[in-house]
Amino acid sequence: EDRVFSGIQPTGVPHIGNYLGAIQNWVKLQDQYKDIIYCVVDLHSITVPQDPKVPQHAELGWILMCLCTMSRLKLLPQWKEKSKTSQHVGVGLFNYPVLQAADILLYKSAVVPVGDDQVKHLELARDLARLFNNKYGEIFPEPQHMLGSSHRIKSLRDPAVKMSKSDLSKLGHVDITDTPENIREKFKKSKSDFTSNITYDPVERPAISNLVDIYAGITGLSTEQVCEDCKNHDTLNFKLALADIVIETFKPVREEVNRLLEDKGHIDKVLYKGYEKASEIAEQTLQETKKAIGVS
Ligand code: TYM
Repeated sequence: EDRVFSGIQPTGVPHIGNYLGAIQNWVKLQDQYKDIIYCVVDLHSITVPQDPKVPQHAELGWILMCLCTMSRLKLLPQWKEKSKTSQHVGVGLFNYPVLQAADILLYKSAVVPVGDDQVKHLELARDLARLFNNKYGEIFPEPQHMLGSSHRIKSLRDPAVKMSKSDLSKLGHVDITDTPENIREKFKKSKSDFTSNITYDPVERPAISNLVDIYAGITGLSTEQVCEDCKNHDTLNFKLALADIVIETFKPVREEVNRLLEDKGHIDKVLYKGYEKASEIAEQTLQETKKAIGVS
């Protein structure tokens, strides 16, 4: 049976972009697949020994790095973007997509629910799987990405950039644990334009279209239907209606997150159970891989 795999960085609280791009699908897929692994990609603690899952990821990462050319990695948009902003970028940032490929291939994953910004990374994972298979024998299935209902949610302050945890403006991202007051304030102050009716036109009206995307992603309606339903709204009314929907949707999530934060023992238990299951698969694939290349 096909295995589903995905991951999220541990820094900060997930925002509605993470939710609509990926996490909404993670939840849905639980009804469709039995074999699922979702992980926290704790790259910051890669040297900390108590994360017992890391060695196999790093080891397969190294094997794949030896198959991957520098010119291939230089083409990736995240590298092009991030290496522009600083002269002192680490090798880790450059190699990161290969480690991500290792995350995925280590579990022989077939389906990877992610947002649009990860599509190029999934292409790399497929290329590396194919390269490896051709050179050493069929081990890895070629993993397919599965996009969420809204592929790329933009910052509420600047529709030219994606919604991101690291956005300097706190008003740019709505986190899934934000209070109702906070959510309302962020949507109220979200960027719009000089037209007051609600239409969907990402090129001419990127800010409003981003809000329509969020509305559509959360309600499950098409963007056309959202514009039709909201044709009597001006932008302010629309923003307030959207805020209400977001508040309603994430109310139980926020309550559950807060409840779980009080129950650290339970979280540790769940993580440990996941680790046991994942590391067994990871170890098996790693041994198979090392045998294939002759270093076991
Ligand atoms: P991360 O932690 O940045 O984001 C987690 C997921 O959320 C999606 N996402 C978005 N979708 C729509 N609009 C946005 N504004 C938005 N921002 C983020 C991302 O596409 C992602 O699916 N490299 C990955 C983590 C990773 C991974 C993996 C994922 C490491 N190894 C293996 C899948 C499989 C990342 O940084 O995601």
